[in-house]
Amino acid sequence: MAVLGSLRSVVRFRRFERNGDLRRLQSVADVDDLRRLAERRLPGGVFDYIDGGAEDERTMAENTEAYRRIGFHPRVLRDVSNVDTSTSLLGRAVPMPLVLAPTGFTRIADPQGELAVARACARAGIPYTLSTMGTRSIEEMAAASDSVTWAGEGERRLWFQVYVWRDRGLVQEMVERAAAARYEALVLTVDTAYLGRRERDVRRGMELPPKLGPGTIVDGIRHPDWTRRFLTNEPIVFANVATSTRAQAVPDGTSAVDLAQQINTQFDASLSWDEIAWLRSIWDGKIVVKGIQTVADARLCVDHGVDAACLSNHGGRQLDGAPVPISLVAPTRDAIGDAIEVIVDGGARRGSDLVKARALGADAVMAGRPYLYALGAAGEAGVDWLLDFYASGMRRTMALCGQTTTSDLSPELLSGV
Ligand code: GLV
Repeated sequence: MAVLGSLRSVVRFRRFERNGDLRRLQSVADVDDLRRLAERRLPGGVFDYIDGGAEDERTMAENTEAYRRIGFHPRVLRDVSNVDTSTSLLGRAVPMPLVLAPTGFTRIADPQGELAVARACARAGIPYTLSTMGTRSIEEMAAASDSVTWAGEGERRLWFQVYVWRDRGLVQEMVERAAAARYEALVLTVDTAYLGRRERDVRRGMELPPKLGPGTIVDGIRHPDWTRRFLTNEPIVFANVATSTRAQAVPDGTSAVDLAQQINTQFDASLSWDEIAWLRSIWDGKIVVKGIQTVADARLCVDHGVDAACLSNHGGRQLDGAPVPISLVAPTRDAIGDAIEVIVDGGARRGSDLVKARALGADAVMAGRPYLYALGAAGEAGVDWLLDFYASGMRRTMALCGQTTTSDLSPELLSGV
């Protein structure tokens, strides 16, 4: 007994957590842990669709590696008892410089899909971007966001990502729906004239939604929990196409589609800078252009009067060999000054990466894959965990660097750039 008593005084066991999502999160320390959990819980084809990139995946790997090569010149003895991570994004206060990216087919990671992400973002007070290829509708997203307490200032923030379909009427209808649902910004993606060749998907013959064939059945048996949820929830479709009055004209995902075929046949490869004026004529809110990969094109964003340029290579999913967005931030700022806002997408895996991006001159970071890993690992609770991980990591990094406000972050803080 005495031995047990002294053992108890030195060994503390965690209380058993009944909620599976929260229990799994107890052993998660970073985004790589979320990724490993997602890999374990999702069928191989689903995980590879999320995790994979174009061709040799060099650009995808480099997006993250480039952040890791940047270090700090920390200052000390500067009273960091109050650190403020807040800043401004599209002219409005935001608690940290982060916006979540649009991702297609989010419901393959978790049945709630985009709704879970919208609620988590509202609780964190940051914007979330619904994809044109999203699996929840513009209106469902607005209702989900409004169903929780918004932690930011002013009105809740949702952005809508636009792919320009050949059927302009479909685009216009979606934009009008976004306006009616009080979305704040349109994010025009400009790097997808053709779908990048994601060779993991090619090998697996990936279609969306995943089709049930011998391969998927074996995979499904190995992931019974995912399979049960996939089969017992309403079918996964391109929710914004399916709810459009033009749904007859374009595939809405009701039957499996090959994503490359869908994009290559339905999206307009003749897209040009003239499209910005057209979007302006049908939309009164903010416009972000996503997929800027050169300083020259960042300048054109200024010339065309958009509100923000989003430096992005689509998470390394489009052109392998494309430049890494974090490396473009400083040259872009040098070229355009403060003319418009700059958002940097891809590769940020920690709060310290948000500090690095800000110090280089970005207004905010955009992140996609990390929240899909979080959804796959632990559903909505996983996304809450991730957003807190970014926020607390940013606060800690700023404190350890002797910085108390985001406006003080500058390139002098960084080494290796
Ligand atoms: C869609 O945009 C994708 O990257 O899969």
